[in-house]
Amino acid sequence: MKRIHLAAPAVNGREMAYVRAAFESNWLAPAGANLPAFEGRVAALCGRKEGVALASGTAALHLALRLAGVDNGDVVFCSALTFVASANPILYLGARPVFLDSAPGDWNLSPDALWRAFRQYRPKAEVAVDLYGTPARLFEIEELCKQYGAALVEDAAEALGSELEGRPAGSFGESAALSFNGNKIVTTAGGGMLLTNDPERAQKARFWAAQAKEPAKHYQHRELGYNYRLSNVLAGIGLGQLETLGEFLEKKRRIRQVYEREFAGLPGVSLNPLPPNTRPNCWLTCLRIDPKTGVRPEAVLRALEEENIESRPVWKPMQLQPLYTGAPFFAHEEGKTPVSSALYAQGLCLPGDIRCTAEDLARVVKAVKGCFGKERAGG
Ligand SMILES: Cc1ncc(COP(=O)(O)O)c(C=O)c1O
Repeated sequence: MKRIHLAAPAVNGREMAYVRAAFESNWLAPAGANLPAFEGRVAALCGRKEGVALASGTAALHLALRLAGVDNGDVVFCSALTFVASANPILYLGARPVFLDSAPGDWNLSPDALWRAFRQYRPKAEVAVDLYGTPARLFEIEELCKQYGAALVEDAAEALGSELEGRPAGSFGESAALSFNGNKIVTTAGGGMLLTNDPERAQKARFWAAQAKEPAKHYQHRELGYNYRLSNVLAGIGLGQLETLGEFLEKKRRIRQVYEREFAGLPGVSLNPLPPNTRPNCWLTCLRIDPKTGVRPEAVLRALEEENIESRPVWKPMQLQPLYTGAPFFAHEEGKTPVSSALYAQGLCLPGDIRCTAEDLARVVKAVKGCFGKERAGG
């Protein structure tokens, strides 16, 4: 039985022309024509003036926070329900994370939690994640950040191609981060991009990303740098991938539609909500299972694995991660079970692989529905 993946790279055959050009020009890394072309194309797609291609989305977040002036001991707010890479750059800079719960309406950062957190802390920055490709309530979040003097960093790692009220993901905040990791909608086999409208910030990010080398023959260093630049070869893969971004988006959204149609009739089962003012890329679709159904997400994960189908629990939120034990946390509603903890306990991500065929999706649907049939039969 063929393995069905959660989100594997979808090679489209356009990548090799750019990779070949890099080889033929002998510009492999880190400079060369693919790099500025890739940066320009992604920045334009995201409505930004500048893009800085980097080795990872994590590197983009690290540089974004440093550009925001985050330093030792500073407080940084961060969405709790996310992959750990959203939060780790806060620790890289010696800063202190404060985690914010999800809102039930979109699973993204709760403006209610944010508002309460601002009453207690004065953060340097706020990392707002567009979870599973759905843009957060970024207009409200941006407004609150402005009011309290915090720099907004949009973690759009999962959201290339998504929109909020017609504005592209990656266009919000002082800067934003994208990921081109192998599981993302566009991949460079590992990579990321920092997006900003400020050419000086972009320049600084490029400088730090290339070991902060000052223009002296002997490599003068005044500031701490990193080896974070994306190679020209990998930027070529990204350029090739971008040529079919439209098709990739269509495919992801069609996968979501199949799940919507197929699971609409299952009592106690819902999908991650997509607010009507968003046009998400549907990077991954998640199931939420009401505990009253008697079906545990672990049982569905197991049943899918038995059918050689990859699935995963919803991100384990940061307030439950041992690495972040003791970090302050603000729930959506004070004194209530955090929304993000409930989503972790009740949710799982279904395959959203671009190469999934109709037959593959039918296999996924059958395996999921089978769990509910079995559970009901067993009382
Ligand atoms: C929400 C989120 N932020 C940050 C990252 C980090 O990106 P990368 O893996 O390219 O470092 C990822 C994905 O891996 C992510 O899903």
